[in-house]
Formats: sequence, C-alpha cells, structure tokens
Amino acid sequence: MKVLVIGSGGREHAVIKSLKKSKEIDEIFAFPGNPGMADDATLVDGKATDVDAAVAFAVKNNIDYCVVTPDDPLVLGMVDAMNEKEIPCFGPKANAAIIEGSKVFSKELMKKYGIPTAKYEVFSDMEKALNYVETCPIPTVVKADGLALGKGVIIAFTREEARNAIISMMQDRQFGKSGDNIVIEEFLEGPEVSVLSFTDGNTVVPMISSMDHKRAKDNDEGLNTGGMGTIAPNPYYTSDVAEVCMKTIFKPTIEAMNKEGRTFRGCLYFGLMITKNGPKVIEYNCRFGDPETQVVLPLLESDLFTIMKATTNGTLKDVEVKWSDKNACCLILASDGYPASYKKGYPLVIDPSIKDCVYVAGAATKDGVLVTNGGRVLGITSIADTLEEAIKESYKKSDLVSFDNKYYRHDIGAKALRVKGAK
Ligand code: AMP
Ligand code: GLY
Repeated sequence: MKVLVIGSGGREHAVIKSLKKSKEIDEIFAFPGNPGMADDATLVDGKATDVDAAVAFAVKNNIDYCVVTPDDPLVLGMVDAMNEKEIPCFGPKANAAIIEGSKVFSKELMKKYGIPTAKYEVFSDMEKALNYVETCPIPTVVKADGLALGKGVIIAFTREEARNAIISMMQDRQFGKSGDNIVIEEFLEGPEVSVLSFTDGNTVVPMISSMDHKRAKDNDEGLNTGGMGTIAPNPYYTSDVAEVCMKTIFKPTIEAMNKEGRTFRGCLYFGLMITKNGPKVIEYNCRFGDPETQVVLPLLESDLFTIMKATTNGTLKDVEVKWSDKNACCLILASDGYPASYKKGYPLVIDPSIKDCVYVAGAATKDGVLVTNGGRVLGITSIADTLEEAIKESYKKSDLVSFDNKYYRHDIGAKALRVKGAK
C-alpha cells in the first residue's frame, strides 16, 4: 500500500516512523516532509495547505490512504477533497475540524451539551468586549476565534493587558480574520493534561496521556511556544480522572458532534485542565499534538495503520489498541530565540546512533548538507521503565546532536517527577 502523510514537522515524523512498522505499507510519501526525514519517507515538493496539489499528487500516484496531520489542511477540507477522489483518509472532514478551527463553535458546543469548560462570552464588537473587561474577574483569558498558529490565546493578568489583547486582535487584526470574533473566558487553574484519542465517530479510544511544556524557558517562563518537550504518561491523569473524563467529556463530545451532523473521525485532542471542580476542556484540537505525538506513538504497541483504517471505516471497536507501560520523554532542541526571532541555516549533525529516536521538525538542505530551518529543530524521545530514566536519557542524547544556537529547556518532566505517583 502507498500512504501519503501531509505535513512537515516532528509530529509528522513520529506518525511516519510509527506507520513504517506496518507490514501492509510499501511506501510512505511526505507532503512535503523535510530532509531530516528523508530516510523514512519519500519527500514530495509542495505545501501542506495546498489542497489541490496534494489531491492531484495522490490521484496521479495511486495513493491508497492519506493521513492529513496538520490543522490548516483539515480545516480547509483536504479530507473532503481526497474523499471526493475516493482516497480514504485519517482525519476529520472540514465540518468536524471546525471543533479546532473556531473557538466560538467549540465553546457553544460545550455549553449546549453540558461539557465542562471555562465560562465565557463571545464578542464580535470591540467596544462591547472592551466594556466587558472593565468589570469581569481578572485574570481573564482572551482568545481569537480562528486558527492563529497557537498564538491566539492571551492570559491577561491586568485589565490593561486584556484591553491590549482585544485591540490587537480586533482592531490591529494581528491574526487577520481569526480575530473577527473573540472569546473572553474565565481563568482556570490546575495542572494541564493532553489526551489524544482515536475515534471513528462512535467509539472513542483515549491514547496514553501526556504533558506538554509550552513556555520557552525553564520554570514555565518566557513566551508560549508550540511545545518545548513532553512526557507520557501524565501523572496527573489518574485512573479516577480518566473515568470522569470519559463520562463527562470524551463520550459527550463525540455524541455532540454526531448530533450536530458533524461526525468526527480521526484524532481528537482534548486539552484538559484538572481544576478543583474536576476536569475541564481548555481546547480541542482536530489532530495529533506536537510534540505530544512524539511521546505517545512510540508507546503504541499495536499497528497504527490498522487503527487509522478502523477510524475511517467505523470499526474501531473491533481493533486492539495496546500501550506499553513504560515512560517516554521528548526533549525539543530549538534555535535560540524561538518563538520570537532566531537564525537558521546552520549545519545540523545527528549522531547515527540516535537516529531512531529523533523526530526532525525544522531542517533543510543547503549545498547538499542538512541545516537547521526552523524554531523547533528536532525532538529526541527516550523510552524507559521510569520517567526519571527517560528524562535522563533524552538529555544525554542531546549531546549527540550539534548545531549552532542550540537551545533547550532544562526542566522537561521535572514537574511530573514531583507529582506523587510518578514512577
Ligand atoms: P490554547 O491555545 O487554547 O491551547 O491555549 C494555550 C494555553 O493557554 C493553554 O495550554 C493554557 O495553558 C492556557 N489557557 C487557555 N485557556 C485558559 C483558561 N481558561 N484558563 C487558564 N489558562 C488557559
Ligand atoms: N502541543 C500543543 C498542540 O499541538 O497544540
């Protein structure tokens, strides 16, 4: 079978490495991938958001199955377009990807179906939003409605910060159309847990839980990033919490989407906060998380391709989804300065001994040499019996990757290790 994977980051590299283990697959194409994954997939020139070009490639090359990994092609309807050409896909159609594509949609869905989340108000009028933050509880959280490269959420600790966030989104249009509508919501407190799930629209199978480290600097300081490292499983996600989440969040969300005529198939990502009043949804993503995928999929013992096909065919309940009971840690090596400004184009050397556990996110070739080409350059995932060992291993292996301006956090997994119950 020929499989096409859309996207180019570390998450896509993790999906590709996992699919490579499937005996059914003969060739994997990455559209466009990056040169750091050239040993694992055939790279195809193109842009992940170019729906027409991806479909044309798939048709011309007799692709049997397509995994649409990033949010934007999903929201743009790449699955719908592939399906029109009878190419089955992993991922939701556009009418279900809206669960990530519009925060107004997802908040209204949760309110309508009683799914626990932060209290909120929606505004399309800037003056009304500005008036509201003069009296609302502070801190408060201001969110652009649409996709904003992970930057559309501002936690305002003062009224002035809230006003500035509203003005930058609605007047200065920092995120373009994504700021036409905004959500202003209650500030929640508690540990965060990422739970990715497989779903075929009826059955929902949570994957191993994970913990992201979103801030750029140690001790959760600095700017929000796409994620500087992850660990799995997340010790805050106890079996009691998991049970509550299944009953109050996971199943109700799948059912709500069905009732709305927007059946979701693929990977539904639940960004959760475990508050004093129980688990609440911070956000939904319509796709695998990055870098959550780099710790979750290496712990999957079942065949990923079999599971993916079952989400497409509606047969997920008949498929075994088995997880290792080990621990995983992914350490992201970034370019210093990320997520603001950073230099790229430096030679990137990865010791061949760690090739299997490296997920390359930002690399290019210059004069035949692999060079850095992004804020997040790569992730190193280690698997061990204990979380402590997995963390140690990833840090040790980071010495086996060299490039100028290498930057990483020093405390990935430290918080999890402090939690009682962490192995
Ligand atoms: P999002 O882009 O929706 O994942 O939000 C980015 C981050 O902002 C989340 O991972 C949380 O750490 C934080 N956040 C979002 N919403 C809230 C909220 N209502 N209360 C507290 N923190 C939040
Ligand atoms: N790591 C967070 C995300 O993928 O949205």
